[in-house]
Amino acid sequence: MKQKIPNSFGLDVYAQHLVTVTSVEELHVAWQQAAAKQMPIMIIGEGSNTLFTTDFQGMIIVNRIKGIAVNETSTDWQLKVGAGEKWHDLVTYTVEGAMPGLENLALIPGCVGSAPIQNIGAYGVEFKKVANYVELYELATGKILTIDDGQYGYRDSIFKQKYADGYAVVAVGIRLAKKWQPVLTYGELKNFDAQTVTAKMIFDKVCAIRRSKLPDPHVLGNAGSFFKNPIVDQSVVNTLLAHYPTMPIYPQNNQCAKLSSGWLIDQCGLKGYQIGGAAVHQQHALVLVNQNRATSQDIVDLARYIRDSVVQKFAVNLSPEIRFIGQFGEINADKLLERVDGTS
Ligand code: FAD
Ligand code: EPU
Repeated sequence: MKQKIPNSFGLDVYAQHLVTVTSVEELHVAWQQAAAKQMPIMIIGEGSNTLFTTDFQGMIIVNRIKGIAVNETSTDWQLKVGAGEKWHDLVTYTVEGAMPGLENLALIPGCVGSAPIQNIGAYGVEFKKVANYVELYELATGKILTIDDGQYGYRDSIFKQKYADGYAVVAVGIRLAKKWQPVLTYGELKNFDAQTVTAKMIFDKVCAIRRSKLPDPHVLGNAGSFFKNPIVDQSVVNTLLAHYPTMPIYPQNNQCAKLSSGWLIDQCGLKGYQIGGAAVHQQHALVLVNQNRATSQDIVDLARYIRDSVVQKFAVNLSPEIRFIGQFGEINADKLLERVDGTS
């Protein structure tokens, strides 16, 4: 019987089969059974970075492998965390347990196993700063691989590339240095005094900022930033700054800088713009929301409209951060948005 796929957009999307696993053994059994029947397989956490463009013709495995083990050394706390733990619960646990280091990453939805995959980041910190290792279950052999070098980049890692197909993240190793340095480089965090600030103060502030500008997916379906912030050559930045001197830029090095997709979309006058049941959020233009019983197609159509509007006004291409899933597995989101017939 078809089962509804958990997803933070709150879309009515279904899988032919759906199973929740709480151990590597259960994952092994589910995955081998699906593979034996040559069924498409997808493993998900909370579906908070995923757009199911249609029903899934295969097996969805929902990862709920839990457990947090802490090993204290003279220099750091080394955590081994089950991939199905909630990320924000882990952040809370470490901050309340006086193990600072994750506070800037508070309130990011999703599971711990998904954090290395897109190298989650917020408020001046990325997952890679605390990454120790990632344990992968390999479908072809049933073995566990330990990957020390995740080759992390902006919303990117080896788990989106070489280890995207046929592997499941089952545990994540995190290292929190006892010599804690607060990261106060982003936005309102700059107002804190580095000498007196505590991890709990940063945690509380990040939660407050996020609650003030990002919609709660339980209330208004969304998947956070829909597009990545584009990284462009300095020559492009200079041309744009000549026309838009107040445009926010985040220099990466001498050759290129990151632009703000939210600002670009906002400048196109698209806040509140709606197609079908999908809308651009009123408070944050980079967040697309399920305003009123949106379909997957409404969201795809809105994303395409936004992408086209930004290209027309700024000659800058936006690329989705969100993973698009078709009926048999992941599909190329950029290609789908380029298509004019709108089919998925
Ligand atoms: P899912 O959406 O379930 O999965 C994402 C991808 O990873 C899919 O392709 C899935 O197949 C794959 N995957 C999931 N689990 C596994 C596994 N165990 N093994 C192998 N593959 C797997 N992200 C940020 O980086 N920074 C933010 O500040 C941020 N803010 C957000 C705010 C809101 C309101 C929302 C809704 C989202 C936000 N996000 C943010 C995006 C999202 O929370 C993160 O990307 C999160 O890590 C996704 O976790 P998930 O478990 O829901 O992943
Ligand atoms: N802005 C506007 N209008 C808007 C929204 C934003 O002009 O409607 C401008 C403002 O100038 C603002 C700037 O954009 O100062 C940046 O906005 P914000 O601080 O909200 O950050 P962002 O670039 O939109 C990124 C991440 C977020 C992360 C925040 C905080 C990406 C794609 N998104 O958003 O991550 O939480 O920084 O670090 O990099 C996510 O990945 O899902 C996500 C929410």
